[in-house]
Amino acid sequence: MKIVFATNNAHKLSEVSALLGDRFELVTLREVGITEDIPETGATLDENASIKARYVYERTGLNCFADDTGLEVEALDGAPGVHSARYATDGHDFAANNRKLLRELEGKVNRKARFRTVISLIVDGIERQVEGIVEGEITTSESGAEGFGYDPLFMPEGYDRTFAEMSAEEKNAISHRGRAVAKLVEMLHDIELE
Ligand code: IMP
Repeated sequence: MKIVFATNNAHKLSEVSALLGDRFELVTLREVGITEDIPETGATLDENASIKARYVYERTGLNCFADDTGLEVEALDGAPGVHSARYATDGHDFAANNRKLLRELEGKVNRKARFRTVISLIVDGIERQVEGIVEGEITTSESGAEGFGYDPLFMPEGYDRTFAEMSAEEKNAISHRGRAVAKLVEMLHDIELE
């Protein structure tokens, strides 16, 4: 099955492609002629994943999926959430985002947080959603140099290292995105068998 992944992020593409196996041929946005940024105007991760998938389906008519991820911090009422990429600035400034997160949590005892990924899949016009969650907490200072984004500040439950102190394989096995993609794979196999 040929399927469009609504991303131009090569790292995400190879990660998901490896998990899907060779029965699915992944195609990027650029390959189907979508070069503009898809507007992410939703108020939630679920809405944004859906907006992106529907945008691709409406323009190409091809089976497709889109993902959206956010870090949800309990003491901050779920922030940065859907605004995770642009928490501190308008750009994707990971260092500034991490500084802001530490500032916002200064003096707070409750540092519980979770990463959540939502994937919207559209096959033959029917939309389905799955989510992947990893629970953890925000550390009081950054550790580790692997990964990206909030990884140096996120310590998953049951571990004494941050995501940035883990190899990509170790992180993917327990991460929000890894879990969401595992569900996507399951769902695609079920659909293929229908
Ligand atoms: P996206 O929806 O995958 O583009 O993710 C939105 C934002 O969430 C990113 O710009 C990062 O700030 C953050 N983020 C997403 N996934 C991760 C992760 O695995 N580790 C750390 N930060 C992440």
